[in-house]
Amino acid sequence: MEFPPRPEIFDFHGVSMTQYFTRNWEKVQNFKARPDDILIATYPKAGTTWVSYILDLLYFGQTSPERLTSIPIYDRVPFMEIAHPPMISGVELAENLSTSPRIIKTHFPVQFIPKSFWEQNCKIVYLARNAKDNVVSYFHFDRMVMIEPDPGDWNSYLKRFMEGKVVFGSWYDHVNGWWKKKQTYSNLHYMFYEDMTEDTEGEIDKLCSFLGLSPSVEEKKQIRGEVHFDSMKKNNMVNYSLFPAMEFKISKFMRKGKIGDWKNHFTVAQNEEFDEDYKNKMKDPTLQFRTEI
Ligand code: A3P
Repeated sequence: MEFPPRPEIFDFHGVSMTQYFTRNWEKVQNFKARPDDILIATYPKAGTTWVSYILDLLYFGQTSPERLTSIPIYDRVPFMEIAHPPMISGVELAENLSTSPRIIKTHFPVQFIPKSFWEQNCKIVYLARNAKDNVVSYFHFDRMVMIEPDPGDWNSYLKRFMEGKVVFGSWYDHVNGWWKKKQTYSNLHYMFYEDMTEDTEGEIDKLCSFLGLSPSVEEKKQIRGEVHFDSMKKNNMVNYSLFPAMEFKISKFMRKGKIGDWKNHFTVAQNEEFDEDYKNKMKDPTLQFRTEI
């Protein structure tokens, strides 16, 4: 598929966005959520695909195993706000889903979520990843995805990330906004990439108890194997190798899957500046991230 030049970033209701995620705004805002819909919300590169695959396996791994080998994860778990004609939009894909529940993903900051999700009291899973690994992952992603703005060099990218001038805006506002929402909306399960890495089984158990699921020991073992980084990297249905807009020659979607890769990217000076700025932006002592384990 031919792609037009990389998109420009612009301010959209106070958040940096591109047209791929704003042009369907009205339709997205009017999306009719159902009470059993499950929304996966993340800042880009926090591990969205990982948690999407876990949820898909938990709900449909036993009942419709053919899905796993025939439908790519981005069609099983539609990306709500994406709109890139002639490709089917995320909203249409979600509306066409015949599954129950429908599992839908979004990168929207909390204030952009269509109101029907709140009205229907839908279950929402939010996954967050520490800022340093998140920005490194996002940088490599933007290099290889042709529908993202040109990332430029690492130093200028890091600056723009700190200023919130990357797609979906400020990481700091995103993770804080959703954290704050958790205080008033009880159907929100807030998870961390670092916990998932450290104790995948334990985190799957917590997810199951939030979702009201009780998979067998055997099933959980199977899921644990399926969602391991190395298994997902090899699996064409979840590694995005079938997705048209990515240049795998530049970088892979399933790139490293590590905590602490930021140390291979940040200079000492960048790290000091980042930490200083971080302290000013992350004032809530109850929201803590780990940059190494
Ligand atoms: P890296 O670029 O650091 O490797 P998203 O799905 O939100 O786009 O996030 C992608 C990031 O999650 C990538 O990070 C990818 O490697 C990582 N990831 C995906 N599946 C994973 C898994 N099973 N275990 C660990 N990391 C995973």
